[in-house]
Amino acid sequence: MSFSCHISGFGHAVPERIVTNQELSEMIDTSDEWIVERTGISQRHIASDEDSSATLGAEAAKRALEKAGVSAVDLDLIITATCTPSGMFPSTASRIQHSIGANCGAFDINAACNGFVTALSTASQLIHSRSAEKILVIGSEVLSRITDWSDRGTCILFGDGAGAVIIERNEGSETGQIFPPVLGSDGGAAELLFASGPCTAPSDLLDQEAKIIMDGRSVFKYAVTAMAEAVEEALKKANLKAEDIDICIPHQANKRIIKALMDRLGLPIERAFVNVQKYGNTSSASIPIALSEALEEKRLKSGNTVLFVAFGGGLNWGAMIANWG
Ligand SMILES: CC(C)(COP(=O)(O)OP(=O)(O)OC[C@H]1O[C@@H](n2cnc3c(N)ncnc32)[C@H](O)[C@@H]1OP(=O)(O)O)[C@@H](O)C(=O)NCCC(=O)NCCS
Repeated sequence: MSFSCHISGFGHAVPERIVTNQELSEMIDTSDEWIVERTGISQRHIASDEDSSATLGAEAAKRALEKAGVSAVDLDLIITATCTPSGMFPSTASRIQHSIGANCGAFDINAACNGFVTALSTASQLIHSRSAEKILVIGSEVLSRITDWSDRGTCILFGDGAGAVIIERNEGSETGQIFPPVLGSDGGAAELLFASGPCTAPSDLLDQEAKIIMDGRSVFKYAVTAMAEAVEEALKKANLKAEDIDICIPHQANKRIIKALMDRLGLPIERAFVNVQKYGNTSSASIPIALSEALEEKRLKSGNTVLFVAFGGGLNWGAMIANWG
């Protein structure tokens, strides 16, 4: 019998505390005008001492389960995309599994800002191979913990939050399909965007603490080209053309990157869902938060062809197209 897989539930959760550009300009030498013009970001949510990628992820997961009408005990697997885990181990996914009362397998994926596309790709392939029927996929980050708050070139960009989806097998249906994903990586360009961690070898330790280090200009150029090429390949695999894309839900890194990507694809910016102004760059949480808001606002509707596309540290990138059921 034919089947497809579709996203049946979604939800997001962000910390209460909002830090505006104005507040940042009182800490470092910057201005609201500069940040808005270069990035499109106006504010970001920042975790409290009690928040973690596990607590925010669990909150988003509960909302997605409720929307899908799925009980946590019926999940077959939990995959959490995060580059700011709650510890080296157990995984953030295992912590979330316990917190929501699930009793399935759980693991984390770290592909930096491309984490959610990578996790969703993995989940859809597990469903296509009939290894699982219901998977909870989460993107959750507390980037504020690895942000260098004295570096104006990076600290203006990042924020904290989580988004989650339930992906399920849909028996006897051809609609709501997820097309083959495209994933790419260039570890040779890692020095353009990285954060060292507690297990970094002393000989490799460029920075004593796990803080984000970035060459913003180079990342900008690399991101636009890599994402555009990934989208073209994903379109080919899905036998579609760029103009078939009804809505693009890109990684929310920077409004100018999103605009440059849409220009490269020959699509109007109006077809991209943009909420970077409210949350900043929340890494692997940005696409599921944007997806959740696009659905709440009815920007993404049944029958739409939707594109997910991301780029981040690794360097890592990915594109995935779905027919929204
Ligand atoms: C970070 C970014 C906004 C910087 O914008 P930019 O136009 O490239 O700016 P530059 O880094 O070239 O800096 C230009 C000037 O602005 C200054 N500047 C940098 N950050 C500033 C800030 N927050 N406020 C005010 N001035 C700032 C620089 O010091 C520099 O000054 P100088 O000309 O006197 O040396 C931009 O490069 C970018 O968005 N890159 C992509 C980053 C990204 O999205 N990474 C995550 C990918 S997942």
